[in-house]
Amino acid sequence: WEMPALALALGYLLGSIPFGLILTRLAGAGDLRAIGSGNIGATNVLRTGRKGLAAATLLLDALKGMAAVWLGEALVPGGAVLGAAGAFFGHCYPIWLRFRGGKGVATFGGIAFAAYWPIGVIYLVVWLGVLALSRYSSVGGLAAALFAPIAASLFGRTDFGVLFIALALIVFWKHRENIGRLTRGEEPKVGRSRG
Ligand code: G3P
Repeated sequence: WEMPALALALGYLLGSIPFGLILTRLAGAGDLRAIGSGNIGATNVLRTGRKGLAAATLLLDALKGMAAVWLGEALVPGGAVLGAAGAFFGHCYPIWLRFRGGKGVATFGGIAFAAYWPIGVIYLVVWLGVLALSRYSSVGGLAAALFAPIAASLFGRTDFGVLFIALALIVFWKHRENIGRLTRGEEPKVGRSRG
């Protein structure tokens, strides 16, 4: 059982690195948790006005999910799913931030790519497509999370399909404030300072 536990634990450690928080602090842009939605993800980094930093956050938060899948796979057969679960949980509930982490959209995307790249492509297309149409980052992320288990099942990756149902539920739970703002018409759109 040591190797599965290691895959889960190393995945968690990787996932718990709050890149958005670290990059904005290093760039002298202040504490991300005091800005906009207070979230530590790329969307909120964008609200600091630093597009490059937001892109780097998106990429690194995705890459840590990919790395955890590959690491898990290298450690033990079936470890990919464990590494993925660890990384996602680490991103959303990092011990370093008193378990107040991100909303999981970028890390989920990285996991989807590493699981089987066409699933990642579907995730990316849904996310970007819905974001472009709605101009709401949260709606794009929610739509991508909703499609991920379906995409995994379509490609016969039942192991990831089951995990993705759990991840999608967490993504929705983490976006409960966004969903509240959306229903009240108060959610800010991307590319504008105010909704
Ligand atoms: O990935 C997070 C995004 O969907 C919403 O972020 O900062 O608008 O709550 P935010």
